[in-house]
Amino acid sequence: MILEVSIYLVCIILFCFLANRLYFSGSRYKSEKKLNGKVALVTGSDCGIGFETALDFAERGARVILACRNSLKAEKAVRKIIQKSGNKQVDYELIDLSDLDSIKAFSRNIQSKIDQLDILVNNAGVMGCPESWKTKQGFDMQFGVNYLGHFLLTNLLLDLIKKTPKSRIINVSSCVHYLAKIGLDSDEFKGYPKSKLALVMFTKELAKQLHSTGVTVVSVHPGIIIRNTGESYCRLFPLIVKILYLIYMIFTKSAYEGAMNIVFCAIDDQVPKLNGCYFSDCRPKEPSKQTFDEQNCKNLWEISKKLVGL
Ligand SMILES: NC(=O)c1ccc[n+]([C@@H]2O[C@H](COP(=O)([O-])OP(=O)(O)OC[C@H]3O[C@@H](n4cnc5c(N)ncnc54)[C@H](OP(=O)(O)O)[C@@H]3O)[C@@H](O)[C@H]2O)c1
Repeated sequence: MILEVSIYLVCIILFCFLANRLYFSGSRYKSEKKLNGKVALVTGSDCGIGFETALDFAERGARVILACRNSLKAEKAVRKIIQKSGNKQVDYELIDLSDLDSIKAFSRNIQSKIDQLDILVNNAGVMGCPESWKTKQGFDMQFGVNYLGHFLLTNLLLDLIKKTPKSRIINVSSCVHYLAKIGLDSDEFKGYPKSKLALVMFTKELAKQLHSTGVTVVSVHPGIIIRNTGESYCRLFPLIVKILYLIYMIFTKSAYEGAMNIVFCAIDDQVPKLNGCYFSDCRPKEPSKQTFDEQNCKNLWEISKKLVGL
């Protein structure tokens, strides 16, 4: 009797775990679409969501450029992608998004190597940095790397993107952008939520400016992703960490599942009809109310131009 009840209980727990896991992992994007002859560039792609995105593009046959700041990690990621995908057209270029000079050098370098750019994924991001952390030019680290760095990079690559038919720009934002507010005072340009809100506003303004050029620009929330942080605690409290990790797993996506949201935005046929939109779980979703104020988006664009010296 006790054994039977225990078996039932284990089955119920397993079922609940799987059902929750399936629910929180979001919709699954599957497509056989190939990207042969296309060129894709993904920032921050030596690990996490960026790595899985780059791997998917390589598996579809694209030439993939990993834009990373650490050559050792980038080399390792390139080797892994080539080995897994069998596609040898995978390479990396160094970029530090916390340094405007590095972004300019990267952009010059890349334009001497490629003459088309079909997909640009602005994925690199930092989170949880103390306020004292600044970029090389003195901006708040999170705002500088996540938004201003990608703002400059995109603008510098814009001619290349515009001359590539049906090209796409995907800005990786986050659902935490709903928590932020952006005014006109650049002293207030700090923190993770604001950097992600700025990306959604930038997407809207850029889509408007690129209207009728054939370029699609969207922003996306990849989902809440299981990260490898906590590895060091794992050695100290292995059992507790494993149990917590299991609970955490129920409510999050894997990096692969998160990347599928970006891949959807990069290749699905319905996305160009939704130019400028914000996506979550492979669907357009209403972003923060602030992003609907067109003048606000335009103002942010003008201030950003001044800040990065465009
Ligand atoms: N994880 C989530 O739950 C979640 C949720 C919503 C949105 N997002 C967004 O999704 C994107 C990817 O997240 P993730 O979880 O995959 O993050 P991650 O694993 O921490 O990867 C971040 C990537 O950005 C790179 N990076 C950081 N600073 C850089 C800089 N100054 N210059 C160039 N590259 C830099 C990192 O390079 P290094 O390897 O050299 O550090 C790394 O490759 C981020 O934009 C994040 O904000 C994540």
